This record gives sequence, C-alpha cells and structure tokens, in this order.
Amino acid sequence: MADHAASSALGEQPGTLLRISDVSAQFTSRLGRLDALESVTFSVARGEFVCLIGPSGCGKSTLLRLVAGLIEPASGEIVVGRAGPLTPAKRGGKRSIGLVFQEPTLLPWRTVAANVALPLALSGSRRDDVDRRVAELLGLVGLSDFAGEYPANLSGGMAQRVSIARALCQDPQLLLLDEPFGALDALTREHMAVELLRIWERSQPTVLMVTHNVEEAALLSDRVVVLSPRPGRVTAVVEVGLPRPRTPDLLMGAPLQAVAKRLRKTLAHKQSAVVEDRGRSYGEVS
Ligand SMILES: Nc1ncnc2c1ncn2[C@@H]1O[C@H](COP(=O)(O)OP(=O)(O)OP(=O)(O)O)[C@@H](O)[C@H]1O
Ligand SMILES: [Mg+2]
Repeated sequence: MADHAASSALGEQPGTLLRISDVSAQFTSRLGRLDALESVTFSVARGEFVCLIGPSGCGKSTLLRLVAGLIEPASGEIVVGRAGPLTPAKRGGKRSIGLVFQEPTLLPWRTVAANVALPLALSGSRRDDVDRRVAELLGLVGLSDFAGEYPANLSGGMAQRVSIARALCQDPQLLLLDEPFGALDALTREHMAVELLRIWERSQPTVLMVTHNVEEAALLSDRVVVLSPRPGRVTAVVEVGLPRPRTPDLLMGAPLQAVAKRLRKTLAHKQSAVVEDRGRSYGEVS
C-alpha cells in the first residue's frame, strides 16, 4: 500500500473512464475571488470505486459538479469516456452520469417508483421497459415493498436509497456520490455503506464518491484521492489494496483499520500544515 505523489497519479490506465487534468476552479463573490481547486489531476478506471476525501470547504462538491458538467472549470480539462471534454453544449442529455447529493432530492408528489423512473420517463423510454428497470432497481436497493409509498413516509436512509436507485436508472457510465450518507446517524450510515458495497459488488459501476468517513472510504473504494485544504490540490492517492469481494465484517478487522488510520494521518497532516495559510488564497476581483 503506497501513497503516490500527485504527479504519479497522472498516468492514464488503458480502461480510464474519467480523466481530470490540471483542473482549477474559482468563484467570485462579494468577498472577492476564491480559488476552490488548483491543478487537480487524477483519473478513474472503468469499474473502479474511488473516494474523495479532504477537509470541509476544500472543493470536493465543486469537483463533482465540474465532473457532472454543472459548472465550468477556470482551466484544465475533464473527459468522461470517449465523449471528449465536457462543454456546455454537451450538458443537455448527460445520461451517462448519475449524481446523488448529500440530501435526498426526491419529488414529494411522486411515489418511490415514479421518482426512480423519472429520468427514464423524461427520456421517453417505453412504459414496460421503465417498469421492468424500476422493479429491478428497487429490488437492488431493498425497497420493492415501498414502490407505491411517498417520500414523506420514508426514513432518511430509505430516501437516500431511492436517490441512488434513481441515479442508477439509466445505467450511468459514471456514478457521482456527494456524501450520500452525510445526514444519517452513525449506525444507519454504516448500514448504507454496506448496502452500497452490495450494490457495487453486483453491478460494478464506476464510482467517484465524496465522504468524510475514512472507514467508509476504506471499505468501499479501490483508491482514495486526498485533497488539501482550499484551494484543493491532490496531496495523496492511497491504494486501499483490500481484496474483493469485500464483506461488512472487514470493518472490524485490522487490515481495514490500518488503511483508515493511514487516511486519517494523511488528512490530519495536511490540515495542520495549511491552517497557518488560511485566507491567503482570496485574491482581488479582476
Ligand atoms: N457557488 C459558489 N459561489 C461562491 N463560492 C462557492 C460556491 N460554491 C462553493 N464555493 C466555495 O468554494 C469552496 C469549496 O466549496 P465546496 O462546496 O466544493 O467544498 P467541500 O469540500 O464540498 O466542503 P464540505 O466538505 O463542507 O461539503 C468553499 O470555500 C465555498 O465557499
Ligand atoms: Mg461538499
């Protein structure tokens, strides 16, 4: 298990699905210009599960929004599959990327099944194809019995599983998860991580997931990309190296705990190093 310097993560493997090259992001607000991300470079292979960790405000959500094509980088390039760099013109029918936010974003007036079906219904798929796919996905996330229920009658974890099913509905090339279990209590969160592990082991989508939980990152991912405090830069790429298929009992075991400890150390080191620097990256509005 070795940390690679950021530069060694540049190397693109043959099965690369997502390539982020030298990406920087900036925002301009009343306070001036804020550098959110600086020269971020890494790639994710097809079928790989990569977690993104870093201190609050370091640009993790910004990076997912960039990859989803919701915002534009100040510089650099993001390529998903063979589609070429994302451009505003390509934003429209971005069927190949599924995005799950920290809070479930379900439509309260639609049932669980109708929420999961939404992306397919909007794309004009045939009714029986949609029904078949929705039934399959509800089975996958363990919610078959709740197909006709409304979001208000679900627990937080159930609602988040519906969001995950909806994101998987169109078989996205890439699944982006932004702290999907962040709002849940510790036990539900662990349960959800195990559910996600089960889903991944069954269908092996390519995943880029933001989390603050190092055990969760170690359980789920193949590699963990560590970002520095803002402006976020890649400070380490940690290979998890635990064999698959993985099971929940790994959480208690020494090998996973060793990975988690390593991640915690990497984070703590970078955080204390940059606390002294706080505020410096605000520039003038040009
Ligand atoms: N739309 C925006 N306008 C101005 N500044 C923004 C905007 N979105 C994010 N930022 C700033 O960019 C920086 C990175 O924000 P981001 O939400 O990506 O952080 P994060 O790593 O996801 O944090 P957290 O772990 O708390 O969710 C923050 O300083 C934030 O204030
Ligand atoms: Mg965030």
